[in-house]
Amino acid sequence: MYFSLALILASLPFLTAAVPLSESPASRGIAIPITKRGNSFNGVPDTSKLQSGIRRSVSKIQRGFTAYERNTGVAHPLSRSIKHVGRDSGSDPLTDDNALRWYGTISVGTPAVSFTVDFDTGSSDLFLPSSKCGSSCSGHKAYDPNASSTAHDLYTTFSLAYGDGSTATGEQFTDVVSIAGLTAKSQTLGAATQYSSGFSIDNLPADGLMGMAFQSISGYKAPPLFQTLISEGVVTTQVFGFKFATSGSELFLGGTNSALYTGDFTWLSLTLEGYWQASFDSISVDGTSVVESTAAIFDSGTTQIVGDPVGIANIFKQISGARAAPQYGDGTYTIPCSFDTPISIDVGGKTVSISPASFSLGPVSQNSSTCIAGAAADKTLTGDFWILGDVFLQNVYTAWDVGGSRIGFATLA
Ligand SMILES: *[C@@H]1O[C@H](CO)[C@@H](O)[C@H](O)[C@H]1NC(C)=O
Ligand SMILES: *[C@@H]1O[C@H](CO)[C@@H](O)[C@H](O)[C@H]1NC(C)=O
Repeated sequence: MYFSLALILASLPFLTAAVPLSESPASRGIAIPITKRGNSFNGVPDTSKLQSGIRRSVSKIQRGFTAYERNTGVAHPLSRSIKHVGRDSGSDPLTDDNALRWYGTISVGTPAVSFTVDFDTGSSDLFLPSSKCGSSCSGHKAYDPNASSTAHDLYTTFSLAYGDGSTATGEQFTDVVSIAGLTAKSQTLGAATQYSSGFSIDNLPADGLMGMAFQSISGYKAPPLFQTLISEGVVTTQVFGFKFATSGSELFLGGTNSALYTGDFTWLSLTLEGYWQASFDSISVDGTSVVESTAAIFDSGTTQIVGDPVGIANIFKQISGARAAPQYGDGTYTIPCSFDTPISIDVGGKTVSISPASFSLGPVSQNSSTCIAGAAADKTLTGDFWILGDVFLQNVYTAWDVGGSRIGFATLA
């Protein structure tokens, strides 16, 4: 069974203004500035949106496990680590989808037409609204394969079911796709003929989505764009780098931007090329290790650090003034806004400190001294893996080494 593709979009980062900073040769890499779009109003986080983001992140991961099994014929080793429990009625409204996002621009077809897309390290497929999509796609720019001399119809549909029973359907094509001046001649993409409400323009400011994980979790069984750029010889260094921050964020394609980090990378080998999945060593709070070595999925499309209820409770036990706050969503915790307890995650022997500013998502209401915490529990998780989202990724420069099947961490400059 499929899980919600809307869930994929729920917590996807967006990139803005994919304008190349330089016109350096692809072999030296191309930088794209990215900007965070918050889910807060006057600095107050929208807890219902955060909550639906947690559920959707887990469901997205679950959907990828299903695709993995379909594509490879074997069950994903972590697929038994999600318990099947009833949906939280009311806590997962698909229309209430405005989590932290980053967005950017790609161009598709001949002549090239530009579109905005999410860049998500937690999925692998590219899709846009089709010119055949009716009102469900209104407000988004549509891709018209008939207007592109390089479009090829694969005569293959895609159909993804949503958690609420609605579906997104469409047709697969290959076409020329460019990002920041790097051009893939033949990239598989979906032209959606129907978008669910989770993709409506109010909920999804970008036109579509671009996954940056591996082919084994692709719903199309096709290479993601970066892998196509590699196989077509457009990028020679098979790495992309991300800096996620309140300002100065950047995606770098074809290497890493050495101006944005200091020292060497610490590398974690991926346990499997599906998600960006590797094991961290421990999570420590105030010098005490509270979570031992566990598999993690590094997901730019998830806002928080998401773990199982027991592991998450162990983190908050060590934080003075922290409280379970189910009134803001199942699995949510609050912390005093003045919180400054040291929290760190050890990855491959490197200690990444989670800054208090990144761990606090903002006050529960205007002028409140109680803040929403950057880690939350999902009751379907058994503790066999965690999702390390933006709250972790903002604290370290990351190198996503597709060719080397590893993820690297370096200290932000
Ligand atoms: C492209 O043109 C063909 C023939 O007119 C038509 O059947 C098809 O629906 C068009 N496709 C799109 C995506 O508009
Ligand atoms: C928050 O504080 C500001 C500045 O003191 C004040 O103007 C505003 O009315 C307060 N808002 C609420 C909801 O109490």
